[in-house]
Amino acid sequence: MSLAFLRAFARDPISVGGIWPSGETLARAMVEAADLRPGQVVVELGAGTGPITAAFQHHRGPRISLEPDPTLAARSRARCPGVEIVEARAETLHAVLSNRGHLTAARVLSGLPFAIWPEARQRAALDAVVSCLSEDGIFVTFTYAHSPLLPAGRRFRQTLERRFRRLERSRLVLKNVPPAIFYIARGPLGDRGMEHPIRCRTRP
Ligand SMILES: C[S@@+](CC[C@H](N)C(=O)[O-])C[C@H]1O[C@@H](n2cnc3c(N)ncnc32)[C@H](O)[C@@H]1O
Repeated sequence: MSLAFLRAFARDPISVGGIWPSGETLARAMVEAADLRPGQVVVELGAGTGPITAAFQHHRGPRISLEPDPTLAARSRARCPGVEIVEARAETLHAVLSNRGHLTAARVLSGLPFAIWPEARQRAALDAVVSCLSEDGIFVTFTYAHSPLLPAGRRFRQTLERRFRRLERSRLVLKNVPPAIFYIARGPLGDRGMEHPIRCRTRP
C-alpha cells in the first residue's frame, strides 16, 4: 500500500507532497471535525491510497473522491468500494459535481499538499473549493506540522483566513508520519472575503 504511495511521490513529488499515507488517527480526527450529516454530499480531494477515504466510506450520502493519479485512484477504489473515486483534479470539482447532479458539496476533506504549492496552484484548487462548498459548508484540510513555518504554508493559512468566515486549527496529531495538524474552515466567502481576513484559532 505505502510502496505505491512512495512510487507516486517519486514520479511527481510536488503533486503527492508526502512520502507516507496519512495515519488512521489523523484521518478519523479530520472526519470527526467535518461533522458529517446523513444525506450531505461529501467530497475528498487527493485520495492517495485512501486512508481518509476509508474514514468516511460509510457516510450515508453521496461520497466522491478525486484522485488524478490512476495507480493511486485504483488503490483507493479497491480499498473503499462505497466511495466513487474519480480520476480528476480538484480544479475540476464543479464539473465533477454537476455531472452527478449536485450543485454544491456540504463537506470537503482535503489531503492536497497546499503548503508546498506555488501561489497559482494553491489558488486554483482553493477557488474550486470555495465556489463549490455550500454556504454553511465545512472544509477540512491537513498539513504537516512544520508547514506553517514555510512561506507557502503561511500563505495558505492567510488565504484560508481571508476566504472563510471562521477558521480553526486542530491540535497536533503526533501519531502520524510526519506529525500533522489540520484546519477546519467554515462558511466560504469567495472573493468577498479577501477584504475581511479573520484570525485562525486553535481548536479547544
Ligand atoms: C499528501 S497526498 C495525500 C493522500 C491521502 N489523502 C493521504 O492522506 O494519505 C496528496 C494527494 O493529492 C493528489 N493530488 C495532487 N494534485 C491534485 C489535484 N490537483 N487534485 C486532486 N488531487 C491531487 C496526489 O496525487 C496525492 O494522492
